[in-house]
Amino acid sequence: MNVTIIGTGYVGLVSGACLADAGNTVLCLDTNAEKVSQLNEGKIPIFEPGLEPIVRRNREAGRLRFSTNIPLGVSHGELQLIAVGTPPGEDGSADMQYVLEAARQIGRHMKGYKVIATKSTVPVGTADKIKKEVQQLTKADFSVVSNPEFLKEGAAVDDFMRPDRIIIGAEDQRAIALLRRLYAPFQRNRERVIVMGVRSAELTKYAANSMLAARISFMNEVANLAEALGADIEEVRRGIGSDRRIGTDFLYAGAGFGGSCFPKDVKALQRSAVEAGRPLRLLAAVEAVNEAQKHVLGEKIGKRLGDLKGKCIGVWGLAFKANTDDMREAPSLVLIADLVGAGASVQAYDPVAGKSFQHRGLKVVASALAALDGADALAIVTEWREFRSPDFGAIKARLKTPVIFDGRNLYDPAQLRELGIEYYPIGRKT
Ligand SMILES: NC(=O)c1ccc[n+]([C@@H]2O[C@H](COP(=O)([O-])OP(=O)(O)OC[C@H]3O[C@@H](n4cnc5c(N)ncnc54)[C@H](O)[C@@H]3O)[C@@H](O)[C@H]2O)c1
Repeated sequence: MNVTIIGTGYVGLVSGACLADAGNTVLCLDTNAEKVSQLNEGKIPIFEPGLEPIVRRNREAGRLRFSTNIPLGVSHGELQLIAVGTPPGEDGSADMQYVLEAARQIGRHMKGYKVIATKSTVPVGTADKIKKEVQQLTKADFSVVSNPEFLKEGAAVDDFMRPDRIIIGAEDQRAIALLRRLYAPFQRNRERVIVMGVRSAELTKYAANSMLAARISFMNEVANLAEALGADIEEVRRGIGSDRRIGTDFLYAGAGFGGSCFPKDVKALQRSAVEAGRPLRLLAAVEAVNEAQKHVLGEKIGKRLGDLKGKCIGVWGLAFKANTDDMREAPSLVLIADLVGAGASVQAYDPVAGKSFQHRGLKVVASALAALDGADALAIVTEWREFRSPDFGAIKARLKTPVIFDGRNLYDPAQLRELGIEYYPIGRKT
């Protein structure tokens, strides 16, 4: 099948590469000429495990191409997948300018029937808006479908290849049949397609991300309470996760959720809810708890070290989670701002993210141990595998005072006590 993807970011590039790997001929469009020329030189502009070899072999096979040429892209695929960004606008609503522009590009250049599917996360009612925009620009027949994407950065290839579910929001049988055919290779052992109304599909994506965000905020609040009551959130997590109705995933307390999706999707759903006259009180709390949680590490550091003027803090992890270079809305950004704002300097290390990130008072260093040299304490923000079993002897030797603030609860408090390292995790008994 000929497929066009509009927007070659985390979602567009992974989707394009995986669809090409299944035998489709994919043309990925992007307005960012530099990104397109990098991709045409075989360079991958993002860090995503397992993506590079898939892009390489499908480029070599001629099944995956990258271009800025809009008319070429529109004529290429009967299926046009929109995967451009939907960043938060000033009032928290999703900024739809990129999605609507992509739709207009299709409308201006299409000659025959097209299925226009949104992979981008878009508010309820977007399909209707796209339909209106495109209708004004063409006489040709087309269908608008909602096909939200559920991949996770850091495991995106695997998620795309083995999805939990594939949501198709559409009424037009011809469009549904096309998408079923597209996704058939990714669900050979059991049916994963759920067909529903367009508006339900659009809402499903926001509801899913909001529920996951709610679990995190809930656990963070319980963690803070556990700390106050002398309980241990890790024990509580195992206790409640064993209930099959609750399940074990997404129950980790930490330094707050970040990334390019949860914060903006929670905000955008809340905005839609307010506009619909049905504000979601629960989501307002999810957001407020998360904002506060991003400051918890900084507060713990201030409480233990006192005046931070002239102090230096080593930070492990800048990315919003492990296995990605994405720093959008990362808790590390809040921590760095808090520490620098209080007069401290920061030496940060991340295996992948932030190589060119600049912030007043911040030095990004090349190794985990280098972040500790001359530092008064270590703060851990991202759960990269290399931080899980570090050389505690080396940590102790390099830090001025052996103190670790752990925003990811990576270590065993008893072990650190024995090693003579002061340990401040989130919601744990130490
Ligand atoms: N990143 C994720 O993990 C993830 C997961 C599921 C859903 N989503 C959703 O998918 C969408 C895309 O997210 P992303 O993280 O891939 O974004 P991104 O910012 O990485 O990529 C978007 C790309 O679209 C390009 N673009 C913008 N306007 C264009 C146009 N008119 N024509 C062609 N290209 C254009 C940009 O240059 C950019 O390269 C968002 O709505 C997001 O919420 C993201």
